[in-house]
Amino acid sequence: MRVLLTGGAGYIGAHTAVALIEAGHDVLIVDDFSASSPEAVRRIETITGAKVPVLAADARDKTALLGFVREHAPVDAVIHFAGLKAVGESMAQPVRYYDVNIGTALTVLEVMAETGIHTIVFSSSATVYGDPAPEALPLTEASTTGIDLANPYGKTKRMIEEILRDAAAADPRLQAVSLRYFNPVGAHPSGLIGEDPVGIPNNLMPILSRVAIGSMPGVSIYGDDYDTPDGTGLRDYIHVTDLAAGHVASLERARDGYAIFNLGTGKPVSVLELIEAFRLASGRPITATVAPRRAGDVASSYADPGKARRELDWSAELSIDQACADYWRWQERNPAGYRG
Ligand code: NAD
Ligand code: WQD
Repeated sequence: MRVLLTGGAGYIGAHTAVALIEAGHDVLIVDDFSASSPEAVRRIETITGAKVPVLAADARDKTALLGFVREHAPVDAVIHFAGLKAVGESMAQPVRYYDVNIGTALTVLEVMAETGIHTIVFSSSATVYGDPAPEALPLTEASTTGIDLANPYGKTKRMIEEILRDAAAADPRLQAVSLRYFNPVGAHPSGLIGEDPVGIPNNLMPILSRVAIGSMPGVSIYGDDYDTPDGTGLRDYIHVTDLAAGHVASLERARDGYAIFNLGTGKPVSVLELIEAFRLASGRPITATVAPRRAGDVASSYADPGKARRELDWSAELSIDQACADYWRWQERNPAGYRG
């Protein structure tokens, strides 16, 4: 298959590009590099030995995207990663989030319709489950979601899921898949590609990594009084190479119509457990202090990954210890990310 990756230079896109090429597919990337670097594409090429055509453009630029797709025809499928993803920022800049996230998705669907591409895989998020009731855990694809989510970022994911459902209902040839990622962590085992957050990171693993390397003084544990075994939040941390393999499986097994899959491990891990795993993997001290709960956080979120196992023949295989070791290798070899 020849697959267009929007946002393919980003964290999850770059790992998926490698997985697709290693599975025998061809990859094209469109990315405006607003949250990534062209160096990521060079590293994808180094790992795989493949040449990856790149369009440096906003995925809302329909003319540029149409030209790129036609130049590389036939393109068989799109994986739509491009978008903005910071929950807090989306509350401060809602219009920008709706514009970029919804706008890129609509343009991609228009370009697909005009060029005869009938398969799309979309980066959704477990954030669409909102604040799950304890009895709803583990979360299945049928668990309650809402449009009344706490932040515009999550709402854009729910809205795009519905746009895909409607598009698939209107066009019997369309194969549309929403992948609800849980918490992506880790890096490629080569140490050549990994997560490269813009500015100060918000997520736990990049923060732990910066504390371990000494560029942040310590980590705040956002609440130790949740109704969880050790009082800290429970999440389903999935290694990014497992996540990448889930995209390959989704494309290879896509069927007509619309489908949703959770991509998670099914294993809840607490904040304290992740800190300890990173401490062991890095061999560095990590100063951790209990702080108040962070606004908008949920106590627990973890997947029932059974549907992806049954229907995609995919399941996550790597442990959080492996994810910490791989993240740390990437961090040590690239202390300033792709700019280092
Ligand atoms: P990322 O920021 O590393 O990658 C996004 C890529 O899209 C970047 O390369 C960025 O430059 C590009 N981009 C942004 N706006 C663009 C535009 N208008 N046109 C073209 N390119 C554009 O993020 P990621 O972690 O790789 O996430 C990929 C997707 O997965 C996003 O849609 C995100 O919302 C979703 N997701 C991420 C997580 C997570 O925790 N990382 C969890 C669930 C879902
Ligand atoms: C994990 C746990 C925190 C930082 C977010 C988005 C979600 C998805 C993934 C895109 C929680 C705790 C964190 C810190 C801490 N992104 N924590 N100290 O919040 O589960 O998910 O990223 O779709 O939409 O909401 O991930 O890594 O920020 O937090 O104690 O400095 O770590 O409270 O329990 P989260 P996270």
